Amino acid sequence: MIRVFVPRDTTAAALGADRVAAAIVAEAARSGIPIELVRNGSRGAFWLEPLVEVEDGRGRRLFGPVNVEDVPGLFASGFPFDCDHPLAQGAPDDVEWLATQQRVTFARAGVIDPVSIRDYMAHGGFKGLEAALGMAPQAIVDVIKASGLRGRGGAAFPTGIKWQTVLDTPAAQKYIACNADEGDSGTFADRLLMEADPYQLLEGMAIAGLATGATLGLIYLRSEYPRARDVLEQAIALARAGGYLGDDLLGSGKAFDIELRLGANAYICGEETSMLNSLEGRRGLVRFKPPLPAIKGLFGQPTVINNVLTLAAASTILSDGAGAYAGLGAGDSKGTLTVQLSGNIARGGLVEVPFGTPLSTLLREYGGGTASGRAMRAVMVGGPLGTYLPESLWDTPLDYASFADVGGMLGHGGVVVFDDTVDMARQARFAMAFCALESCGKCTPCRVGSVRGVEVLDKIIGNNDIENNIKVLNDLCDTLVDGSLCAMGGLTPHPVRSALSHFPEDFRDR
Ligand SMILES: Cc1cc2nc3c(=O)[nH]c(=O)nc-3n(C[C@H](O)[C@H](O)[C@H](O)COP(=O)(O)O)c2cc1C
Ligand code: SF4
Repeated sequence: MIRVFVPRDTTAAALGADRVAAAIVAEAARSGIPIELVRNGSRGAFWLEPLVEVEDGRGRRLFGPVNVEDVPGLFASGFPFDCDHPLAQGAPDDVEWLATQQRVTFARAGVIDPVSIRDYMAHGGFKGLEAALGMAPQAIVDVIKASGLRGRGGAAFPTGIKWQTVLDTPAAQKYIACNADEGDSGTFADRLLMEADPYQLLEGMAIAGLATGATLGLIYLRSEYPRARDVLEQAIALARAGGYLGDDLLGSGKAFDIELRLGANAYICGEETSMLNSLEGRRGLVRFKPPLPAIKGLFGQPTVINNVLTLAAASTILSDGAGAYAGLGAGDSKGTLTVQLSGNIARGGLVEVPFGTPLSTLLREYGGGTASGRAMRAVMVGGPLGTYLPESLWDTPLDYASFADVGGMLGHGGVVVFDDTVDMARQARFAMAFCALESCGKCTPCRVGSVRGVEVLDKIIGNNDIENNIKVLNDLCDTLVDGSLCAMGGLTPHPVRSALSHFPEDFRDR
């Protein structure tokens, strides 16, 4: 039977995918054409969503963006059989935006039915878990170390070292805590992975459990992601029923299970120690380090805290080998980078490329310039605590070292584009106001300094004693960097200072 794929993912749904799916089912019934409707995840080509795909035994054909009003016309021109329609995009390889990427983590995204274990296995799923079940914990940790995998949640800490610490810390109970809070502006890779390929995350968590001796994993999911929650709940139940989770993983006698917890709707709850407090039912206040969560984490027990993409990568590494992963990338940035393109961009979405690809390639070749058609002026990389980059720095290769060299950071790979109507003093104010709103309140520089920062920026924006106020702003930034307990306060000066140094005219010529 012909399979017709219509994404169930949040972005596609926001663009009308649910109504498109219903219209296709109704139109097929009216035309007497038997179809199997599959609600897949998204391939991340959001500019083509809702992206409808047809699989008829000769591969896939893509149509997009399909609005509900397009459905009768599609059928009139022969859909779902071979047809010539203005929305026809050809095979996946005909869409350059998709074909030129190096899809590793997102290889299955949008291709499979996210909750079908059969689909997952037909595309290489659970091979990593099967391999890990036959290995000693230290051997699994050694593979992760050899792969060069670094944490994808922002700080890029080597994953193997974190796992080694948990493995080496004796305890009756250890935990794997998956950070799926994804609070950075312009990021959606975690959500996309959970909605498009959830077993990859569950498999990675089980591998982390086998590597470190943890028997329980918790996913701390952003509460604003109801669709990801639905998919994960279904996937966890089916994985448990299939023996991929539970007391006896694939008949090995080894145990690992996963519970889903909803986040508390605060940016700071993505900071790892704050997340631990939230998971324990407390207010999301940052904890002092040391002790490291790897030694004394959830409920005082050794805990691996990793981002969704980090854990997902572990399944690929165990399946394909450390060498295959370490062979991709640039310098000590191994594997691929999943860039999330958003803001004022013509072709927004998720692009997976090898580390080292210049930012400008993403902006121009994949992004296609601004959505407004105006000149691009500033690009924020690395979320709300990242850096605003001017055009002179857009050729910077996207890898950890190159970004550090230009005073930036890749963070979770969010890239937000602004055209020439942007006011960078107001963007600097946004960073301070964000910190004031989201500060956990534990330390004074961040709690009070960010409020004062907004006031000073308001004076600058209001053309009030500009030079003196820029001095005060710089002093405040120094205090935030020197006196903050965590990276929330410590990194807030980043966007403010990058705006000041790269776009001084927006502060001084008001
Ligand atoms: C204010 C703040 C917010 C953060 N938000 C997230 C988040 O939403 N998701 C995430 O994975 N890491 C977030 N992090 C980083 C985590 O503290 C932690 O480094 C990460 O989850 C570790 O996983 P990794 O090693 O796989 O990157 C945040 C850090 C800070 C300081
Ligand atoms: S820097 Fe801000 S968010 Fe971090 S601990 Fe201090 S008050 Fe809390």
